Amino acid sequence: MGVFKNERDIEGMRRACAIAACVLHETADSIKPGMTTREIDLYAADLMSRHGVKSAFLGYRNYPCYVCISVNDTVVHGIADERRVQFGDIVSLDVGVICDGFIGDNAKTVAVGGCSPLAQKLMDVTEQSLHAGIRCARADNRVSDISRAVQDCVESNGFSVVREFVGHGVGRTMHEEPQIPNFVDKGKSPVIKKGMTLAIEPMVNAGTAAVRILKDGWTVVTHDGKPSAHFEHTVLVTDDEPEVLTLCGKTPLKSQEQ
Ligand code: MF3
Ligand code: CO
Repeated sequence: MGVFKNERDIEGMRRACAIAACVLHETADSIKPGMTTREIDLYAADLMSRHGVKSAFLGYRNYPCYVCISVNDTVVHGIADERRVQFGDIVSLDVGVICDGFIGDNAKTVAVGGCSPLAQKLMDVTEQSLHAGIRCARADNRVSDISRAVQDCVESNGFSVVREFVGHGVGRTMHEEPQIPNFVDKGKSPVIKKGMTLAIEPMVNAGTAAVRILKDGWTVVTHDGKPSAHFEHTVLVTDDEPEVLTLCGKTPLKSQEQ
């Protein structure tokens, strides 16, 4: 089970992931109170084209936007529109790009200007839970070791993990085996092997775990209207420590390459 990457594939993944990370961080940094989510989406689209990559999400099962922008009680898969983000909102941005046939996938939640202490704790715990999960992405562990680390971190802080959406293997396609739940499921979980590239992505609710999908068929919101946060990295399983691929180093824009 799972798709294993050779050295050439890994080089491709490194490049796609580095660009995905830069697009994520530069877009997040551009968010200002009063911007519409459509403006944020188009900002990301422009960065992608300047990096010479395409959105992995646009057109995927007819998804209509370049990136996913999920505000406050929207968990994931928010659709850009004329909504203006305001001071105090928290915005989850999910960025997936395709570069030379490989996909890099990552996400983070940021506050617009500032936010409530509860929303800040929610973001901090969600990011910590991602890091706890990543530390378990080691050869010969099971996927459930990642799930348990995420779930323990979240629940010991009084928050809840979403059940309906999970992390995944990623490579030439966006969703490969294995699935990576953010909670421990019954049954035997796959063994993690060297050469897997995994998108680990806790979605964490301040209140109950329950979610519903809006009539647009995409937007996932919390049932209780409380806020939700989402952090995601693509990581490579090695002989040793996991390598986080979605780090924004110095990835030159295509237009600046000679
Ligand atoms: N990071 C999400 C995932 O891996 C993003 C998918 S959004 C979609 O499932 F629009 F492409 F579905
Ligand atoms: Co993903």
